[in-house]
Amino acid sequence: MDDFSKKLIADSRMILTGAEIHHLEDFSQLMSKFDLDSRDVVLTNRFIYQPFMEEFKAPCNFVFQEDFGTSEPSEEMIEKLFDFIKYDSYDRVIAIGGGAIMDLGKLLGCRRPGNVHEWFYKREPVVHEKPVIAVPTTCGTGSEVTNISVAIVKSELEGGVLTDGETKLGLVSDDIIPNIVVLIPEFLSTLPYKPFITSAIDALVHATESYLSPQRKTLISEMYSMRAMELLLVGLKKIAEEGQEARKDYLKEFLVGANLAGTAFLKAGCGTVHALSFPLGGTYHVPHGESNYALFGKILEIYEEYDPEGELLNFKKLVSGILGCSIETAIPALNDLLEKVCPLKPLREYGFKETDIDAFADSVEANQQRLITNSYVQPWTKELSKRVYRECF
Ligand SMILES: NC(=O)c1ccc[n+]([C@@H]2O[C@H](COP(=O)([O-])OP(=O)(O)OC[C@H]3O[C@@H](n4cnc5c(N)ncnc54)[C@H](O)[C@@H]3O)[C@@H](O)[C@H]2O)c1
Ligand SMILES: [Fe+2]
Repeated sequence: MDDFSKKLIADSRMILTGAEIHHLEDFSQLMSKFDLDSRDVVLTNRFIYQPFMEEFKAPCNFVFQEDFGTSEPSEEMIEKLFDFIKYDSYDRVIAIGGGAIMDLGKLLGCRRPGNVHEWFYKREPVVHEKPVIAVPTTCGTGSEVTNISVAIVKSELEGGVLTDGETKLGLVSDDIIPNIVVLIPEFLSTLPYKPFITSAIDALVHATESYLSPQRKTLISEMYSMRAMELLLVGLKKIAEEGQEARKDYLKEFLVGANLAGTAFLKAGCGTVHALSFPLGGTYHVPHGESNYALFGKILEIYEEYDPEGELLNFKKLVSGILGCSIETAIPALNDLLEKVCPLKPLREYGFKETDIDAFADSVEANQQRLITNSYVQPWTKELSKRVYRECF
């Protein structure tokens, strides 16, 4: 096991909740509560700014993520953003958007590194200096409460040798947990169904992986995982039964569920699903929630095969209680529910090739130790990674 994973396991804190968490109705309440002014930089998207913020004419510097690229954050996008927003031009960062914007906002709160690539590979320090207010507009990543900022970076093999490919890496430091979180359910109302549902599934994966975390979960993080699972599964069931529009009556619950799941995984960590999804997201630019979903059901089936009576049994009890199925059928029932709200696609439909099976398994082994050391099945081997990719192909 790598030293970083050992350090995470040895962390005696039962939960990390750095941020104040507010619930507000709209942007005008945020403006007055936090006295937004011209030294605030607001990172958002135009399609969130126009319906929800423009009319209030806040005196801040609004910057739109799409001007720097439309994919998830990458080394290149971060460099462009840093060039555009001079470090001495603002005192506070307000990030209003999906996980991508949350993650970029966290970086804007930090002293600028000499080189972004080196920063993500932990060869430059992370020094947080400016307060960040995080306002999520998807119900997925929980990034508003976590200590990670994820980006697509040039892939390295052990020893720092650059490959031709890309992967996703998390820049991790407790200092980058946003200082204030504001939950405004209205912001989710314009989120189209596809990103809504895949981000909700991402949150469910956070709740599940943190709940099944073998060494890092605590009684307190477990409470966050369980309540998150409850809110999210009830919402997903409602959508399966009543249709896509039913989500609109349940926005606050999805937003809070995702937020609780974020706090849960901040302490207990994510695991195999995230580890195996990172090369998929990095190489084929599959959106984060969707790339997790592509692997989630298969990984749960493997957990069931290897250790059905461990903590997975309690997970199945919880799921069966919410879905109204038997404990024995909890995992297939969960996978059926997800199939109803979001049909599953095989990996090949994302561009995944047979040769990726070995290459991705190698990349997971080299770059995702933090996650695979937190797998429910221990040790999580390269052979198991290959099996998941092969069976999802
Ligand atoms: N830091 C963490 O803890 C953490 C954890 C998981 C994932 N992530 C990162 O978060 C990102 C994924 O986040 P996400 O799932 O929220 O997706 P996202 O930020 O990419 O947003 C999904 C899509 O929905 C759009 N969108 C967002 N809010 C909208 C709204 N209210 N109305 C209309 N459109 C809206 C976005 O522009 C985008 O096209 C990835 O970059 C991933 O790596 C970070
Ligand atoms: Fe995630």
